[in-house]
Amino acid sequence: MKTIDLRSDTITQPTDEMIEAIVNAHKAGRFGDDVIGEDEVVIELQEKAANILGKEAALLVTSGTQGNLIALFAQSKRGDEIVVEERSHTFVFEGGAMASMGGLFPKPVKGERGYILPETLKSVISPDDAHYAKTSMVVIENTHNYAGGAVTRPEQVKALAAMAHDHNLKVHCDGARLFNAAVALDIPAKNLVEDVDSVQICLSKGLSAPVGSIIAGTEEFVYESHRTRKKLGGGMRQAGIIAAPGIVSLEKMVDRLKDDHQNAKILYKRLVEIPNLVIEEPETNILFLGLENLTISQMKLSEELAKEKIKVYGGYGTRTRMVFNRMVDREDIDRIAVALERLLK
Ligand SMILES: Cc1ncc(COP(=O)(O)O)c(C=O)c1O
Repeated sequence: MKTIDLRSDTITQPTDEMIEAIVNAHKAGRFGDDVIGEDEVVIELQEKAANILGKEAALLVTSGTQGNLIALFAQSKRGDEIVVEERSHTFVFEGGAMASMGGLFPKPVKGERGYILPETLKSVISPDDAHYAKTSMVVIENTHNYAGGAVTRPEQVKALAAMAHDHNLKVHCDGARLFNAAVALDIPAKNLVEDVDSVQICLSKGLSAPVGSIIAGTEEFVYESHRTRKKLGGGMRQAGIIAAPGIVSLEKMVDRLKDDHQNAKILYKRLVEIPNLVIEEPETNILFLGLENLTISQMKLSEELAKEKIKVYGGYGTRTRMVFNRMVDREDIDRIAVALERLLK
């Protein structure tokens, strides 16, 4: 029986075409030392990404976490305050590195489905007074993981960015799943980041590349980020090995994200009638099951599903996350639904 892995879209394996792209680039002698800017494939990926994101320049980094941290460190000073959504990746899941490594002071605020309202931002910007840390940036996460893959729309980005810029704050978009938002809205990804100063996208999630993220912004931002990446040990040598699959991700893997969204919706429709299950219709590829009104615990649910070769993370909370990805087919949805209908009733 096939194992169905819903723990994350990061479990996606590279496609054959990605492996072929590595081999072809190698045969063509296109790899070089990227620390001295000599890897042609990295240069091609960065140019392509900058173009797709509508930014002046882009930089390949090792991971989404590294990309977010570089973007924050490159655009702020130690001691600055950064406004983050209280359940955002930058605040919750990056090991506190913005504080421990960057000396930045996170100011978490509650969003609406992950979106920080402009009025909320305005209300937490510190006055220009020596008693306070200087508020210098705000982070938008799009899609927002913990809000269930929630999409922030271009007009919302515009409104928040306008408020931020009016107060001399920079805006960073953690777009680990930006293409999921773009596909859900059926708009180009660049429309979602027009108003932000920097953006990070992950190649290694739904887009299926084995490694890597991109950060993009102005030439000046990328120049600073290049320096910061080096300091964080993120300078890589024949990094074209990572960039070659990344190019395939951007060219071939974006449109298929809608399959993941459809699978999430189909499962939602199967589960929505289960009494006492807290569940919201997914906008993209993430579906949370709220178990707070049921007797089964999150840990028990993960153990029982594992017996049926369905993987979800266990944990001590009440929300089980399921992330739809390229390794999960339409036929698998029925198996997941049957198992959950039995376990959650
Ligand atoms: C919203 C969001 N941002 C950033 C990251 C970090 O990406 P990485 O795992 O490549 O460090 C993740 C990873 O799951 C994420 O979900």
